[in-house]
Amino acid sequence: MSSTRSKILSVGTYIPENLWTNDDLKKLMDTSDEWIQQRTGIRQRYWAHESQSTSDLALSASEQAIERAGIEKSKIDLVILATLSPDHEFPGTACFLQAKLGLPGIPALDVRQQCTGFIYGVSIADQFIRTGMYKHVLVVGAEIHSKGLNRTTAGREVSVLFGDGAGAVVMAAVDVRDPAKDSCVISTHLFADGAFAKELWIPAPGSSYPIAARMTHEMIDQGLQWPQMNGKTVFVHAVKRMPEAVLTALEANRLQVSDIDLFVFHQANLRINEMVAKQLGIPAEKVFNTIDRFGNTTAATIPIGLNEAVAAGKLKKGMLVMSAAFGSGFTWASSLIRW
Ligand SMILES: CC(C)(COP(=O)(O)OP(=O)(O)OC[C@H]1O[C@@H](n2cnc3c(N)ncnc32)[C@H](O)[C@@H]1OP(=O)(O)O)[C@@H](O)C(=O)NCCC(=O)NCCS
Repeated sequence: MSSTRSKILSVGTYIPENLWTNDDLKKLMDTSDEWIQQRTGIRQRYWAHESQSTSDLALSASEQAIERAGIEKSKIDLVILATLSPDHEFPGTACFLQAKLGLPGIPALDVRQQCTGFIYGVSIADQFIRTGMYKHVLVVGAEIHSKGLNRTTAGREVSVLFGDGAGAVVMAAVDVRDPAKDSCVISTHLFADGAFAKELWIPAPGSSYPIAARMTHEMIDQGLQWPQMNGKTVFVHAVKRMPEAVLTALEANRLQVSDIDLFVFHQANLRINEMVAKQLGIPAEKVFNTIDRFGNTTAATIPIGLNEAVAAGKLKKGMLVMSAAFGSGFTWASSLIRW
């Protein structure tokens, strides 16, 4: 007996042109290539042009994904966009993307789960497709961090970590006989713990402040409009939660680490991914990292990683690929896909 499942038809990405090496950052702040590489594995990142918005990056990645899927864009039933760097506070950036794609009328949904946003988006698309409600869903992760970072010495602990970019997938309904063997999204596993929401966040502006204090000069002077991060706490939780998410996916599907062909993890810090791999006994050649080239592109990271892995010949049809992510919220998640 066959069942309706979702399958990733294609991946597309957009990487902005402006390359910033670690040495280039020294023009903006007191830092060094050695400090950044030793602690994070990042060598460079790309930052968008001033004229670009997050939905512009999302559009380029989406157009590439749709072209590679070989479908008419009018077949798309739903647009899901994960981002923590929206074009505007409201409406959702998926609405701007939907208009730029020229797809009036179809639903447009923003996902605000930060570094975990893309897996949340894939999971939502998977549910809509399995129930038969939609046949083709565009899932995008896109970020312009560069315009929202304190790119001075005061903000260096955060600003050196992040890059801009976008990645998109077209997911389609397919008839699957054996979900363990046929090409499809096998399972997704989503988690969050809001008790840690303020460990990595932007405090202001927001509705939690009184009317007169929504955004004051004093708040700007304190830098509350910039991301605030307790780096060590984030690190400690990431190296615990990502292996848990991987193990949950393995147990749900009665698989071992050795059954997985490739791990495409979120890219926050190379040391995090090395510790995750060590705990789980994953050989280095099965972990596909991109952080050295792109930094942390938050919701765009996993689709960019999938695209790069395909281009490098590391991810091929029929392989079992596991992704896991951890980020602000705290949120964390895993996905298991037969490519
Ligand atoms: C941010 C992070 C790389 C810092 O590494 P760390 O090992 O905690 O930092 P260290 O204790 O070695 O260094 C801190 C010192 O470096 C300095 N420093 C911070 N950023 C710096 C930079 N870009 N360049 C140079 N020095 C820097 C600090 O001011 C501090 O100096 P002090 O000791 O004189 O106060 C690490 O905590 C991390 O990666 N955390 C997880 C972050 C993350 O994943 N975020 C995204 C989640 S999705």
